[in-house]
Amino acid sequence: MSMIVIQGLCKQFRGAATGLFGHRKPIVALDDVSLAIAEGESYGLVGESGSGKSTLARCLVGLERPTRGRIEIDGLDPLADRQRTAKRLAETVQIVFQDPYSSLNPRMQVGAIIEEPMIVHRSRLGLRRDARRRGVARLLERVGLPPSCAARYPHQFSGGQRQRIAIARALAVEPRVLLLDEPTSALDVSVQAQILELLGALRRSMGLTFLFVSHDLGAVRFACDRVGVLWHGRMVEEGVTAHVFDAPAQDYTKNLLAAVPEVDPDASIAVRRAGA
Ligand SMILES: Nc1ncnc2c1ncn2[C@@H]1O[C@H](COP(=O)(O)OP(=O)(O)OP(=O)(O)O)[C@@H](O)[C@H]1O
Ligand SMILES: [Mg+2]
Repeated sequence: MSMIVIQGLCKQFRGAATGLFGHRKPIVALDDVSLAIAEGESYGLVGESGSGKSTLARCLVGLERPTRGRIEIDGLDPLADRQRTAKRLAETVQIVFQDPYSSLNPRMQVGAIIEEPMIVHRSRLGLRRDARRRGVARLLERVGLPPSCAARYPHQFSGGQRQRIAIARALAVEPRVLLLDEPTSALDVSVQAQILELLGALRRSMGLTFLFVSHDLGAVRFACDRVGVLWHGRMVEEGVTAHVFDAPAQDYTKNLLAAVPEVDPDASIAVRRAGA
């Protein structure tokens, strides 16, 4: 069964005014993109900077409204009735951003950061205060941090630890889908493999579905079952990750792969582990 279905997704942004008459040429960020992601699958979205990867992820969680197209996530249509579906959508899909420095409130203790979504969604989760506190401790353990971290502040952690905290917060509402937008790109190389392994373990144990956005092809090869290649907002190639990476059909994909020195997953992850 498909957890995510996207059909004919288009997104245009207003361009800057140019020329004598202030003519605005629209920026086409997504151009007729279709894809389906099965429940429990990890789908990678790759492409150069500006190819539309983040725009697609943002459309999925309602942060951006598509110009055209259809989206369905776990049977929900986030575009049809936003008032009604916004809360259920947030319970289904959570997003983890690249930069755990700016995505965590520096004034809040880590325990409160992770507990906040449990409070927002308490009617569904049905957790009272003491149960939420236990939930925070469990989530911290799940992402490999001691429960004592709850009383500390984000600045007291390393980048990798902060990304673990962001992942714990994303899991607090027991979502079914994680959108990971460059989840390891801001981290030290030595920490990237640990976070990728954590994400893989969480996906298996919790049955999560991933949309993994990255320009780190080594990370995508390690973390994703299938991959889609975006080029100027268009899906130019899609398939099983190993097939696409070993035998790319499109010139654009070949160039993208040629631009990275090492995308052999075992080699590149081993290099990163060795650095750990
Ligand atoms: N709010 C916005 N207003 C105008 N243009 C935008 C906006 N957001 C994105 N764009 C444009 O849409 C295109 C796609 O951007 P997007 O952020 O989706 O790319 P990306 O593939 O995520 O790139 P990166 O790898 O650098 O993160 C780019 O040309 C970008 O400049
Ligand atoms: Mg992006």
